[in-house]
Parts: sequence; structure tokens; C-alpha cells
Amino acid sequence: MNITDSFALFLEQHEQIKATAKEAQLALERIKSTGNVEGYQEVLDKLVKLKAELMEHSRQEEEVIVPLVEKMYHSPEMAHYVEDEHVQMEEDLLAIKKQLRMHISEEREQLDEEVFVKTKRFLTQTVTHIFEEESGLFPMLRGYLLQMEK
Ligand SMILES: [Fe+2]
Ligand SMILES: [Fe+2]
Repeated sequence: MNITDSFALFLEQHEQIKATAKEAQLALERIKSTGNVEGYQEVLDKLVKLKAELMEHSRQEEEVIVPLVEKMYHSPEMAHYVEDEHVQMEEDLLAIKKQLRMHISEEREQLDEEVFVKTKRFLTQTVTHIFEEESGLFPMLRGYLLQMEK
């Protein structure tokens, strides 16, 4: 796959991830508005889907982007920054899923404010991460590649 195709694929994956994050967000809001904690299973299902999409995307993104950033900055540290954020997102998601599973298995009847806030924050961070890539990192790398071609 050439680099232009890779970026096109990443944008497509971003749209899918944003759509799933939105579904999770809506499922979460429903629990809040109805007080029906059975909705936690739906949130969990959406997060499982999101995790699969995020992991697949992150690996592909790292394969293309990490070597580019390394070349551009002559610095492995900058490249690791890209990976670190992905690792952090996966860890956060894992922790949230664990809490949700506990909540479900213990059949709690109250909305868990902490899980609610954490999940909401994670979903916002995911969308922000994508926004930052599309508005900052990707255009910068494209510019760098154009420069290299000259
Ligand atoms: Fe990313
Ligand atoms: Fe991305």
C-alpha cells in the first residue's frame, strides 16, 4: 500500500471509530436518562467493538507513522509519543471494561458515577486524539513527504 492509500484508509477507520464512540456515548446517556442500569451491557458491547477497531487501526497507523516521524525529527522519542498515546488509550479502555463487567456481574442497581465519568472522558479523548491527528500530525507528515519528493 502506498502512503496516500494508507492515509485514506486511516481516515476511513477514523470515521468508523468515531461512529462507534458515538454509539457508546448514546448508550451511556440512555443509562443516565432512564436510570436503567441494564444498559451497561450495551455500553460494554460497544466498548468491545471500539477496542477491536482501535487496536487494528493503531497497529496499522504505527507501522506507517512511527518510521515517518522518526525520519522527520531524527528522534525516536517523538515517534514513541505516538505509540504511548495508543498504549494509554488501550489501558484506559481495559480498566473501564473491567469496571463495567464488575458492575454488571454484581447486578448493582445504581448508576456508577465513576464509571460513567470515566467512560465519557475516554470517549471524548478518543475523538480528540483522532481530531489532533487529522488536523496536526497527518497534514504535517503529508507536507514532509511532499518536501521529500522535491
Ligand atoms: Fe492514533
Ligand atoms: Fe488514528
